[in-house]
Amino acid sequence: MAYGEVDDEVSPVTDWLHDWDWLDPQWGANAISLWNDIRSQCPVATTERYGRAVMPVTMEAIHQIAADTEHFSSWRVSVARPEAPPRAAPPITSDPPDHLGHRRLLLPSFNPKKVALMEEDLRRFCRQLIANIGDADRADAAEQYSQHIPVHGICSMLGIPESDADMFRDWIYRNFQLAPRDLTVRAQVIAEMNAYATQTLQNRIDHPTDDLSSLIAHAEIDGEAVEFDLKVGYFNLMVLAGIDTTWSAIGSGLWHFAQHGDQRARLVGANNDDAVWSQAIEEVLRFYAPVTMARQVVKSTEIAGCPVHPGDQTLVTFPAANHDPAAFDRPETFDLDREQNRHVAFGLGIHRCLGSNLARLELTVALQEWIRAFPDYTLETEQVTTWANGQVRGPRNIPVRLHG
Ligand code: HEM
Repeated sequence: MAYGEVDDEVSPVTDWLHDWDWLDPQWGANAISLWNDIRSQCPVATTERYGRAVMPVTMEAIHQIAADTEHFSSWRVSVARPEAPPRAAPPITSDPPDHLGHRRLLLPSFNPKKVALMEEDLRRFCRQLIANIGDADRADAAEQYSQHIPVHGICSMLGIPESDADMFRDWIYRNFQLAPRDLTVRAQVIAEMNAYATQTLQNRIDHPTDDLSSLIAHAEIDGEAVEFDLKVGYFNLMVLAGIDTTWSAIGSGLWHFAQHGDQRARLVGANNDDAVWSQAIEEVLRFYAPVTMARQVVKSTEIAGCPVHPGDQTLVTFPAANHDPAAFDRPETFDLDREQNRHVAFGLGIHRCLGSNLARLELTVALQEWIRAFPDYTLETEQVTTWANGQVRGPRNIPVRLHG
């Protein structure tokens, strides 16, 4: 199945409060209003489609879950068929005390200084994508622009060929949009990813370099070599977390500004003024936060008064929390002047996004270069053709008129 196609065997959701499904075709384009509607009735929605799973939609509940590793484990970070075997991709799938060692190993590669060194190359890359569009009147800002930028970033870091980009995007699609329901697809995509990671890491063991793949291939914690399976997990996580997250955020920003000429004009006027742009990028992240995670309940407790028990799964709906009126003044307004913006797009607590510096840089450079090149671009139609569902939500096609 391709983006936007509907699985005929799965009935569409008609009751989001008691039967939600993050792979329902309505989720992609409408998730924000679905969450708002649920929140106006109850802080937690439920479903039995993946075994028992709950979906809290308030900032308070999301803080509670992210801070509580005693009751909520990260060994499953996607709400999926309950019999799906666990898959190690540390640090995101690790709980304390193991988590810290894995995180510390990868963290230095994403520090602000290292990431800042990538800016010029990312700008050059974005300008080349824009040059490839040439003097056309119309373009697809997702297919011809947003989807390529994070692939460029993570491929440069890992030292892997960008020519494999279509394969990475295919893995991402099958992994996030098909695998939670389909164990056969899940096993296939894991096998393909593991084979690629194994080959890359084995190559770096034989021929060390200074890229992130080589760091992973030679990983040690407290002087002990990390198990090879876990190194494969690190590598796979870099590919999965590094690509469609930022692709979705860039795409959402492009989609938004295509429809808001007044805001676009302010950004054009601001040139690359850091303060104005930084506020704009944070508001894109708040409003369109792409990433929803999950946890497995390992000890009975309550979420906003809703009892949960071992074996239940819960979404950690960071994007819904970003629209909670208890946490934000006028959350439904995309506000370029929002000064207090404590959004949770990058998560909270020990698993807070390790790639946030890179994501912010890619998002800023991508939007600045696009808006400078096409200050008058507008959305071609009111409807975006396709949005990705589920764990990472964002537009996959953005038909635009480039010159108004
Ligand atoms: C706009 C883009 C991005 C968003 C919105 C985002 C969001 C998130 C969120 C919400 C988490 C928390 C996971 C949890 O609590 O279970 C997370 C963790 C993580 N992210 Fe990102 N992410 C983005 C880009 C990236 C990039 C570019 C990378 C680079 C590879 C990356 C790597 C990671 C890693 C490794 C973790 C796990 C950290 C840990 O468990 O300690 N992310 N991200």
